[in-house]
Amino acid sequence: TDKYCVFGNPIAHSKSPEIHAAYAAQTSQQLTYDKRLAPLDGFTAAVHAFIAEGGKGANVTVPFKLEAHKLAGALTMRAQAAGAVNTLLFTEQGIVGDNTDGAGLVNDIVVNAGVPVTGKRVLLLGAGGAARGVVLPLLEHHPAALTIANRTVATAQALVAQFAALSAGAALSACGFADIEGAYDIVINATSASLSSDLPPVPPAVFGPGTLALDMMYGKEPTVFMQFAQQHGAIVRDGLGMLVEQAAEAFAAWRGVRPQTADVLAQLRAKL
Ligand code: ATR
Repeated sequence: TDKYCVFGNPIAHSKSPEIHAAYAAQTSQQLTYDKRLAPLDGFTAAVHAFIAEGGKGANVTVPFKLEAHKLAGALTMRAQAAGAVNTLLFTEQGIVGDNTDGAGLVNDIVVNAGVPVTGKRVLLLGAGGAARGVVLPLLEHHPAALTIANRTVATAQALVAQFAALSAGAALSACGFADIEGAYDIVINATSASLSSDLPPVPPAVFGPGTLALDMMYGKEPTVFMQFAQQHGAIVRDGLGMLVEQAAEAFAAWRGVRPQTADVLAQLRAKL
């Protein structure tokens, strides 16, 4: 039986073991997946101990995604672009770092919500780690425009500079919240504002009829961002779909089989 786990600190509330157990059952894969609390100064040691026990792969969550990026001997393109690693593969050649967060978000938008990114105007709020991870996967779907808005405009400008060569015809630009112009088809809240029940100061005119507004956070109640977006006519979605999709992408990278996510998403939703 192959062994997998998720490393984080804290880790007690991680839903990943439940998600991967469901995927393993559904695809008849023999594996175990548990959660491991790594000490804040002991992530690398914890990974090496897990490899010594025969671990085949791991997910990595807060606060170790940057350390995982440093630890990996090889990185996938999307992990390089994200500058962070949420999925590790332990191979005979060494530790490979991948990042499935962005692909998870895009799959949730395109497949689960049924909203194509191609040709659309996309507004990304935030320019931290969470935002950086989704830029390349979004650009791969050829939006008409991708605007990155951030409180600290220079951080958004740095992201645009990093991805300019990969924009593939999309109008890629950076601005502050007050300078956002026009309506968008898709608005993604990748700021950490929801964690403190804050609303990023986004002008309500960004939401038109049929706009999809997605918050990467989730909880029992809609976030303040979701409430605000809904009041202004948007269709809203939280980050639970992204969570199950990033897990499916990691599972596929490890096992070569892609699980169905709909039932697992409904199961998690019912338990929030
Ligand atoms: P994460 O890994 O969640 O992306 P991060 O890298 O610390 O965390 O980035 C947090 C993001 O949320 C940043 O874009 C931050 O804006 P600044 O770059 O200006 O700091 C944004 N953010 C946090 N709190 C916010 C708030 N109350 N309003 C608007 N943006 C906020």
